[in-house]
Amino acid sequence: MNPSGTQRIPLPPVPDGWYRAIFSDELAVGDVKPLAILGQQLVTWRGEDERVRVADAYCPHLGAHLGHGGRVEENDVVCPFHGWRWNGDSGRCVAIPYSKRIPANACLRTFEVREHNGYAMLWVHAQGAPPWFEVPVIPETDDPGFRVYKRNRWVLDSHIQEIYENVVDVQHFRSLHQMDVERASWEPIGSPDGPIVRLAVDMRRDSAAQAGDAGKTEIESFMYGPGLQVTRLSGKLRGVSVNSLTPIGVEKVEVAHTYYVEVSDPSAEKEVEAFWEYYVDDHRLDFQIWNHKIYQPRPVLAEEDGDVAGFRRWFRQFYSAEPAPDGDHREAGSA
Ligand code: FES
Ligand SMILES: [Fe+2]
Repeated sequence: MNPSGTQRIPLPPVPDGWYRAIFSDELAVGDVKPLAILGQQLVTWRGEDERVRVADAYCPHLGAHLGHGGRVEENDVVCPFHGWRWNGDSGRCVAIPYSKRIPANACLRTFEVREHNGYAMLWVHAQGAPPWFEVPVIPETDDPGFRVYKRNRWVLDSHIQEIYENVVDVQHFRSLHQMDVERASWEPIGSPDGPIVRLAVDMRRDSAAQAGDAGKTEIESFMYGPGLQVTRLSGKLRGVSVNSLTPIGVEKVEVAHTYYVEVSDPSAEKEVEAFWEYYVDDHRLDFQIWNHKIYQPRPVLAEEDGDVAGFRRWFRQFYSAEPAPDGDHREAGSA
């Protein structure tokens, strides 16, 4: 928000997609935890079958927060207030300790969850539609040839569309990141209006070299819908950063990175770690911009700028409900 109370980024705050609810290692079997994401209060638990569930936090009975004192029974959650038990999959009430008759409308809203890459991700869709794409398995996250180097997380005063727009903004690589970029391109993978895009940045001197004596390393990024982004190093240095972006509320996004390093000899591993440190420093330059910029619905562009309008058209697929309040993002670059 601006001090005047107007939104800096008047876009729908939660695009449709898969979002990290919690890190896998933060939820053991039998754990119940509150979640405050997507502008909502939610509860998550891990059932005895080891699967993660996510549901609305507030008990339909008399409103207790299931994430504060709730407990797991088999794969269900039991409310701490009067003990009503809610099915982990359907959300239906399956037991009331003091009554034989369960009201027909006793149902908690539950979410689809996928757990891959160290993240439990939930599906959200403004119209309530089921998932139309899946969370990919990033092979390195499940490969004993790679290890986790580090994890970082930040809460930014921004919006996922704004953060993603970074990838088509070719000129900022040079001006903000001091990269000697020859060419940067982004392209949808599969169908042109599909949820996956690939970004390739060709540098005269690749950015890995700026982190040390790295030799030839290729850097590629992929976006899998609005909530998951992957940066992969291949060639001399090998590793992957698995980045999740979760809207917390209006103009608030939690970004989390997990960096993987190929297990090899110690000096090569050190070089990959150094690259990830460089990558974080690079992101901090963007954070400062994102935390303070406005969304410019009708940007004034130079010929050499990237395809901002094309990117915004691609991103529109994640807004099933409403256009932005001013509708302007549909006109990006056209005026
Ligand atoms: S408020 Fe949850 S059982 Fe009564
Ligand atoms: Fe950037």
